[in-house]
Amino acid sequence: MYIEIRNKSSAMKNQVIYSLLFSLLIQLLEAAPVFKNSSCSDPNDTFLQSRFNELNNGLDMRKLFLDSDWTENDIDARFNALVSMSNSRASSPSFCTVTGKGNDPLMFRSLCPWTIGSENQRDGIFPKSLYYAKTNCTSCIGSHKSCEPLNYRIKILERTTQCNSDGLYVYKEKTQPLPIAYVCAQAREVEQTGQSVTIASIIDAPVPVR
Ligand SMILES: *[C@@H]1O[C@H](CO)[C@@H](O)[C@H](O)[C@H]1NC(C)=O
Ligand SMILES: *[C@@H]1O[C@H](CO)[C@@H](O)[C@H](O)[C@H]1NC(C)=O
Ligand SMILES: *[C@@H]1O[C@H](CO)[C@@H](O)[C@H](O)[C@H]1NC(C)=O
Repeated sequence: MYIEIRNKSSAMKNQVIYSLLFSLLIQLLEAAPVFKNSSCSDPNDTFLQSRFNELNNGLDMRKLFLDSDWTENDIDARFNALVSMSNSRASSPSFCTVTGKGNDPLMFRSLCPWTIGSENQRDGIFPKSLYYAKTNCTSCIGSHKSCEPLNYRIKILERTTQCNSDGLYVYKEKTQPLPIAYVCAQAREVEQTGQSVTIASIIDAPVPVR
């Protein structure tokens, strides 16, 4: 349903390009070889979790998605409520055309509404799944500006093929841009061989893992 989009055929073309890029990305990810080293075993999750916490200064990822009025005691309840609201609203046909009500969380009042997605990461990545902001809205509600992700740079752990002195895989840190919101913005342009080319944001992309 492209009520808000002026040029239907170009929107369709974009949609086709997105799905092509998306399936290419998936294929690349699946083709990425997972090197194992038979002389190492995997450290346990407790160990990896504590390294992850250290790297991210104890960040509780759920806080990235909550509006500012949470307390340490109600994070669980609030986050679960957001996820279930997300799940029910994501399928609404008016999701990209009508904003939420004044007392809704920011993610539904935004002119680029988003929901909370969760993506399993490939083998050898910790955490094993990541929450991220997700939208299928290409243009902002009420205008033809574009919806672009606001990224938080989280640090994740990636397994190497080396073992430490305890015979456990060494994990190295890696910075991962994680969409936590979408903003309504003037489309970005880059100069390319004298010609101006518009870069559309990648829509509904999984958290890229390289
Ligand atoms: C997890 O691994 C760490 C480091 O190897 C070890 O000290 C700890 O006892 C392990 N914990 C459990 C619950 O297996
Ligand atoms: C976004 O998803 C909803 C629900 O699946 C759908 O009704 C809507 O048309 C989609 N919007 C766009 C711009 O793809
Ligand atoms: C496997 O682990 C051992 C011990 O850390 C290391 O010497 C060796 O280079 C590793 N093999 C590969 C293919 O990385």
